[in-house]
Amino acid sequence: MSSNLLKGKKGIIFGALDPKSIAWKVAEKCHEEGAEFILTNAPIALRMGTINELAQKTGAEVIGCDVTLDSDMEALVDAAIAKYGKLDFVLHSVGMSLNIRKGKEYTDLNYELMHKTFDISAISFHRLMQTLWKKDAMNEWGSILALSYIAAQRVFPDYSEMAESKSLLESFARSFGYRFGKAKHVRVNTISQSPTMTTAGSGVSGFDAFYEYANQISPLGNASAEDCANYCVSLFSDFTRMVTMQNLFHDGGFSYTGISEEVMKIFKG
Ligand SMILES: NC(=O)c1ccc[n+]([C@@H]2O[C@H](COP(=O)([O-])OP(=O)(O)OC[C@H]3O[C@@H](n4cnc5c(N)ncnc54)[C@H](O)[C@@H]3O)[C@@H](O)[C@H]2O)c1
Repeated sequence: MSSNLLKGKKGIIFGALDPKSIAWKVAEKCHEEGAEFILTNAPIALRMGTINELAQKTGAEVIGCDVTLDSDMEALVDAAIAKYGKLDFVLHSVGMSLNIRKGKEYTDLNYELMHKTFDISAISFHRLMQTLWKKDAMNEWGSILALSYIAAQRVFPDYSEMAESKSLLESFARSFGYRFGKAKHVRVNTISQSPTMTTAGSGVSGFDAFYEYANQISPLGNASAEDCANYCVSLFSDFTRMVTMQNLFHDGGFSYTGISEEVMKIFKG
């Protein structure tokens, strides 16, 4: 049921690859709530994915952008400004670890791949915000969001170099959030989401066990991609104007739970 929370708002949504993607659900919810937006993904993902289905459904334009390229990022933001004028919201829902893909252990990482991982998963968020900043592309009281994971704060061994990517991502949100807040009243936050069954999520080894563990620890259970989309809508809406520079746990209570009865039972024998 729509409340038209985002009526008249314009934005860009990065990272919808297929219907499991968190960004896909965010696009559907933003559309339901009256927003207009450009969908973007890496050119290769546009060829392989099913983003055109989503574009049709939501009335969005699709523009390719490899987030590691300044030229792509600039062309995308220019196109958005030409279409909408200034923007009200932007979602960065992008992440990939090349060392995880290659099956490299944390104690044997390849640094060229690590640079590329950081570039795709974290530096791209700075690149995005710097491009928006230089082109003065954000409306006053706009909202910029990226998706993170609790491995930024706590150790999850299989998450490997993505842990450092997320720490960096969250730090960029704070540092740019300060500047965007002062200069333009624009807020910048990260959402630290529960494990979610998506292409990026299930690329992490042992993901099913990981998912079930979090589900059993969290008093509310894992937050789904749909739940995350609803939370994103609230953070793009005018009801959260004074929330900025935060890493917001959206995880059913996982981050503040020590142990649950369900997990205790496993060890009680
Ligand atoms: N799935 C989870 O368990 C989980 C949990 C917490 C946070 N997250 C984060 O949520 C975000 C979205 O991931 P998802 O789970 O929806 O998976 P997903 O695989 O559907 O989305 C990742 C997206 O990143 C895009 N991407 C990769 N390289 C790119 C590049 N060079 N340029 C542009 N786009 C590029 C992919 O094409 C894809 O659309 C990521 O930041 C991820 O780390 C996921």
